[in-house]
Amino acid sequence: MLKNDRFLRACRRQAVDRTPVWFMRQAGRYQPEYRRIREKYSLMEICEHPEICAEVTLLPVRQLGVDAAILFSDIMTPLRGLGLRVDIVENVGPVFAEPIEREGQVAAIPPFVAEEAVPYVLETIRILRRELDVPLIGFAGGPFTLASYMVEGRPSRDYRKVKTLMYAESHLWQQLMEKLSAMVASYLVAQVEAGCHVVQIFDSWVGNLTRTDYETYVRPYMYSIVAAVRATGAPVIHFGVNTGHLLTAIADIGPDVMGLDWRTDLDEAWQQIGPGFAVQGNLDPVAVFAPEEVLAAKVTDVLRRAGGRPGHIFNLGHGVMPQMSVSALQRVVELVHSHEVQEV
Ligand code: CP3
Repeated sequence: MLKNDRFLRACRRQAVDRTPVWFMRQAGRYQPEYRRIREKYSLMEICEHPEICAEVTLLPVRQLGVDAAILFSDIMTPLRGLGLRVDIVENVGPVFAEPIEREGQVAAIPPFVAEEAVPYVLETIRILRRELDVPLIGFAGGPFTLASYMVEGRPSRDYRKVKTLMYAESHLWQQLMEKLSAMVASYLVAQVEAGCHVVQIFDSWVGNLTRTDYETYVRPYMYSIVAAVRATGAPVIHFGVNTGHLLTAIADIGPDVMGLDWRTDLDEAWQQIGPGFAVQGNLDPVAVFAPEEVLAAKVTDVLRRAGGRPGHIFNLGHGVMPQMSVSALQRVVELVHSHEVQEV
């Protein structure tokens, strides 16, 4: 049974007693317990062992008092499940043994069937549904963000290879995006069917595209993903970094909740996309390192910009960082929960 459903209510723009709060990357190296588990298991080993993965997912829920859990996994999990050779290298990120260069490589990627590719993810979700008293968020990387790692082979600063492929090899781009969007849709639906209440699409790096390029090369593939999840009845959250110039273009895909990074003022962003969306965000993650009064003022400022309107979910404007302290994040949760929600 759910102890509180504030998070679900906010996703649906219903009234809440307190603003729900959770953090992207809320499980991770900032937690001593997580670091101890990582001494024995790699990131992917954790994801592939349901009991351990469920335990890691629960750590921040118990420790921070957040209003939602996010499945512990990585955006690379389904690609590994399909047999692609990708490792998550510490302090680097995903690294592919054979970056995508030719059509034959894309054609060789098999169709995604969750029960076959990632049975451990579905089992983790089932365990979590028995253990959790707050809603569970499932997730996947967006097709552009996944493609950027697959083509560049590793994290990139300028996205030169992936964007060049996109501009120069339209058939290969289409083939890759179709494959990835079918995978993402099917993976998200499988997570909902296994028990996730809500899903988030992390299209973290789309902010590196112009609005026209986003609309031309990426957005056409997003509609079917959102439509497939919405057919299950589960709310969809979209998140990307540096997307101030893309907000209305992304809103057109029709997610229930728009994730905002910290660069955009929440009130202005909400005004731009309109009251038909819930919004999630958007404290500057680095504010967590600020002195207590400065942090408190910045948390209050985000809440003030939300103005008590239904449909605000408090989060950081990007993920938790390894250097953050558990106590500072606990403080943020307490601060958010100490404000009564009153529409102004
Ligand atoms: O939010 C959560 O608690 C769920 C866990 C989660 C992870 N990755 C675990 C992880 C989520 C939601 C992700 C998503 C993810 N992974 C994204 C999109 C979100 C974003 O930050 O924009 C991206 C781009 C990735 C790819 C990836 N995985 C990167 C760039 C890194 C960092 C490499 C490093 O060492 O700093 C990873 C590794 C990773 N994924 C960690 C965690 C907790 C780092 C800790 C570890 O190695 O144990």
